[in-house]
Amino acid sequence: MSNRTVPNDLSAFWMPFTANRQFKKAPRMFVAAKDMYYTTADGRQVLDGTAGLWCVNAGHCRPKIVEAIQNQAAELDYAPAFQMGHPKAFELANRIVDIAPEGLNHVLFTNSGSESVETALKVALAYQRVKGEGARTRLIGRERAYHGVNFGGISVGGIVTNRKMFGTLLTGVDHMPHTHNLSKNAFSKGLPQHGVELADELERIITLHDASTIAAVIVEPVAGSTGVLIPPPGYLQRLREITKKHGILLIFDEVITGYGRLGTPFGADYFGVTPDIMVTAKGLTNGVIPMGAVLVSSEIHDAFMTGPEHVIEFFHGYTYSGNPIASAAGLATLETYKDEGLLTRGAELAPYFEQALHSLKGERHVIDIRNIGLVGAIELESIPGAPTKRAFAAFVKAFEQGVLIRTTGDIIALSPPLIVEKQHIDTIVETLRGILKTLE
Ligand SMILES: Cc1ncc(COP(=O)(O)O)c(C=O)c1O
Repeated sequence: MSNRTVPNDLSAFWMPFTANRQFKKAPRMFVAAKDMYYTTADGRQVLDGTAGLWCVNAGHCRPKIVEAIQNQAAELDYAPAFQMGHPKAFELANRIVDIAPEGLNHVLFTNSGSESVETALKVALAYQRVKGEGARTRLIGRERAYHGVNFGGISVGGIVTNRKMFGTLLTGVDHMPHTHNLSKNAFSKGLPQHGVELADELERIITLHDASTIAAVIVEPVAGSTGVLIPPPGYLQRLREITKKHGILLIFDEVITGYGRLGTPFGADYFGVTPDIMVTAKGLTNGVIPMGAVLVSSEIHDAFMTGPEHVIEFFHGYTYSGNPIASAAGLATLETYKDEGLLTRGAELAPYFEQALHSLKGERHVIDIRNIGLVGAIELESIPGAPTKRAFAAFVKAFEQGVLIRTTGDIIALSPPLIVEKQHIDTIVETLRGILKTLE
């Protein structure tokens, strides 16, 4: 017997990364969406300044994607992922490789960014082992990194609230420092000038543990969820050189930076640095159906393709890896990106976006503004003793005034769908300007 008291009681759903009690007192509900706008339960239009959760890159309810999902559900709903296949998963893997940086030729499918991270870390460890370097078991992440919420991801991740409740996590993990430096880089447009030397901290960590114990380094090219931390010029190149020199794999977590967010297909393209493994999700299916993809080099893939042919080469995978409906959504998404030039559209709009955002310099509480491609952040001074409160108040006010923004700590993050027009950017910025004047 259910103890439901009203038809849509809110208590049963324990919401993710949400202040549940506060939300349930004053729920914010979306009931529909189209292109750049959500519709709320009370019939208001809310401009999407965040592409959902950095994932709806082509905008909402795009016809090709909707139709592909409908058709696929009616044609082949599910096929076993292990020891069986269906054509669309292979087709999608090929289409991803087509747009990926040269050399990343093989794809493992997952259902989320978190699973993609776990998959990448496991591939890295197993690769070192099949190569005869089984002593390379350490993983290096970075402070303030977000790599999802599973145990591997929070171990290499660097956000204290996501780690402290969960015991000892993975052993043998170390962290490089993050690159955020307000005192030197505040109000930088694009890449901040200071901090390339922080990449050398990797050499220090390697000296401490010895390269022969380290399997992989994982970084987000631009750290997103922790508040848009943009690397200085040359930083990622230096990580690439150091990892290569020491036989350590470099993993880029492109869950946010992938699929056009920076104005290039991937962050790797923006920075001109190719990792050995690339982690993606979110924009792969426009956020519509859960799916992630991990790309690996041929060198890594081929190292597993030895031994008797009847034996499984890599003991890893999910019931829903390459699910037919997700694959159909992915194919239609990539087609939409191609038809509309969305993987590079961000580059055209980035200067306008940059200028608009930086026009908020001088507004109350603003201590930094930063931007790259179609990602921006406005960092606010925290209320003494009440961190996160000021930015959260801005989030609620923006929602009430018809704009969806995202906040993390006291940082407002913006990442509109890549179909955004200048007038939408103006609305987002002018709404925020008004709100900043009224914040406590
Ligand atoms: C860089 C990065 N990695 C991993 C994840 C986790 O993705 P998911 O929430 O799909 O598990 C995210 C989500 O924001 C992310 O930004």
